Amino acid sequence: MKLRIYPENSIILAPLSGYTDLPYRRSARRFGCKYCFTEMIDAGSLAYGNDKTLRYMQRGAEEEWLGVQLVGSNPDFIERAIAVLNQREFNVLDFNLGCPVPKVAKKEAGAQLGKNIKRAVEVFSLIAEKSKFPVTAKIRILSETDPEPTWELASGLAAAGAQAVTIHGRVMKALYSGPVYTDIIREVSERLPVQVIANGGITNWKNCKELKEKCDCDCVMLARGAMGNPWIFKELSECENYQPPTPEELSDELEKHMNELIEYLGAELAMKAGRKIILDYLKSRGFTGSVKTEVSSLKTAADFEDFMKIVRRGPSDRYRVWLLSNPDADRKLKF
Ligand SMILES: Cc1cc2nc3c(=O)[nH]c(=O)nc-3n(C[C@H](O)[C@H](O)[C@H](O)COP(=O)(O)O)c2cc1C
Repeated sequence: MKLRIYPENSIILAPLSGYTDLPYRRSARRFGCKYCFTEMIDAGSLAYGNDKTLRYMQRGAEEEWLGVQLVGSNPDFIERAIAVLNQREFNVLDFNLGCPVPKVAKKEAGAQLGKNIKRAVEVFSLIAEKSKFPVTAKIRILSETDPEPTWELASGLAAAGAQAVTIHGRVMKALYSGPVYTDIIREVSERLPVQVIANGGITNWKNCKELKEKCDCDCVMLARGAMGNPWIFKELSECENYQPPTPEELSDELEKHMNELIEYLGAELAMKAGRKIILDYLKSRGFTGSVKTEVSSLKTAADFEDFMKIVRRGPSDRYRVWLLSNPDADRKLKF
């Protein structure tokens, strides 16, 4: 029997740097997402009490389940960061061993640390020892052809106390594109005594089902498929019975999400941080280039209100026609 911390068939929203703040998670939760994470928090910044980092830890009163994610490699920073986290309440503390960005790799953290199995396990043991929360890890596969290195890392982490391991089925150098090596995830999952969560490439209920089957994992984590598309959580639970949002529902949710971001960050910062959020909602949904160009000029809450009047005119007629011949398009709208 495997140790499980997520109930069967759980769908987990991935930690996403620059995205999974409180307003983002609230939006996902409105459509049924239960398991959410903060974005990754740098252990050094947390150890030094950086203000922005403190905001990353904010938890909404209504959030029944929230995981926090830590990234780093310096044992001193990690110990101090965990002392700060331990003063709060989280359901899980996840350790990031998958982030490939140079800023993180330079510090021998994230995916770079994951490649150094011995050291990754040493650092993780410290986390398991100091954390008052159950600990988990998020890794990438270490080879596209041989399951052994990934197995060695995952089993080392499990032996050090990981209660679950999420595996993104791409190697570090593939970043976020290319195939997801489901056979590697499957081989590790079959042998690991703790739960494995499969991650990579989910954008609709059909490819989610396929990922679960190919990896033989009942729990999955998704990231980019939820950007500007919180309805995906409804889709993954309703499958063939899912009804996409109407243009009006799209506008309502975009407005709600941005208004919460304004409340959370203040209008000026929200307009800067929210540009990518707005563009995500409009992406692949038939909004013209000129609507999207407007986004870069939004500076105030009033600008956003005016912009929403344009969005509420809906997608182009060409998109409606295009949908007739592409009825299975991801992120589609219903008319
Ligand atoms: C913009 C962006 C930010 C990310 N931030 C994090 C992060 O903070 N922590 C983490 O473990 N993974 C992070 N990831 C990786 C995702 O959690 C996920 O593993 C990856 O995108 C593959 O899943 P997907 O194919 O469903 O997008 C990030 C990915 C992207 C594109």
